[in-house]
Amino acid sequence: MNVLEITGLSKSFSGLRAVNGVGLRVAEHQTVSIIGPNGSGKTTTLNLVTGVLRPDAGTILINGHPLPARHPEQVAASGILRTFQNGRVFGNLSVNENIEIGTHLGLRANRPFKVFAAHPLMAWLPMLAEVLLACFPTPAARRELAEAQERVNEQVNRFPERLGPRQNHLAHTLSYANRRRTEIARSLVAGPELLVLDEPTAGMNQSETAEMLKQLLELKASGQAMLLVEHKLDLVMTLSDWVYVMDGGQVIASGPPARVRTDPAVIDAYLGRKS
Ligand SMILES: Nc1ncnc2c1ncn2[C@@H]1O[C@H](COP(=O)(O)OP(=O)(O)OP(=O)(O)O)[C@@H](O)[C@H]1O
Ligand SMILES: [Mg+2]
Repeated sequence: MNVLEITGLSKSFSGLRAVNGVGLRVAEHQTVSIIGPNGSGKTTTLNLVTGVLRPDAGTILINGHPLPARHPEQVAASGILRTFQNGRVFGNLSVNENIEIGTHLGLRANRPFKVFAAHPLMAWLPMLAEVLLACFPTPAARRELAEAQERVNEQVNRFPERLGPRQNHLAHTLSYANRRRTEIARSLVAGPELLVLDEPTAGMNQSETAEMLKQLLELKASGQAMLLVEHKLDLVMTLSDWVYVMDGGQVIASGPPARVRTDPAVIDAYLGRKS
């Protein structure tokens, strides 16, 4: 079963074909990577998959079902959670609070009448109910929030030395690497079907990168499906079951890491140009 299957995905920006007929699959428990030179369309592909951008053409299936709508929140609710290339955390919230945001997708007792949120005339109903519950929480709502905090702690414990001592620090005081760890924890706390990572080690030094690789290998061993964009090829080759290579908005090669590494088209388009 494929967690994600995209076919013929295309997106242009005022005439520039950033993504041009891309097809890609991520099976259950797999780690799949997209590599390619700067501007080859990797982030745009992730933005299309996660509903940040709307495609001009193509289909996106999650667990065999078309995305019901392509609003980022709905994509997240259907199990695709992501981190961003430039890192996105809320600077004036603590590490804990940033991660806690990821739990909100799964809240039931604290988010009644959720179905009405998408209804233009009834959208006020869930908002009102949530405010009332925040002021006068029911036992079920209290229990659910306590469980959510427990799940936040579990995620912090993935990075015990890094995030543990900083749980109550505001995110704007964090190092770049710790912001990325917070973002990953926020995605994971929602229990994603597919974790989408855009350059998770960007801005990390060699030892931080090695540490992140170890953490991603652990995640993979736990069965987490991942779609990864990364420039650090050693990490990609160690972690991935399958690698797609993009150039000029198209997939120019794909295969297991060992095959892609030696593909002449890849060496020319990517590896060759880099050295
Ligand atoms: N919102 C946008 N508006 C206009 N052009 C865009 C937009 N987003 C991306 N592009 C262009 O689309 C092309 C692909 O960009 P994209 O960010 O997907 O590349 P990338 O492979 O992620 O590159 P990098 O490795 O540098 O992150 C580039 O030429 C970029 O300038
Ligand atoms: Mg990018």
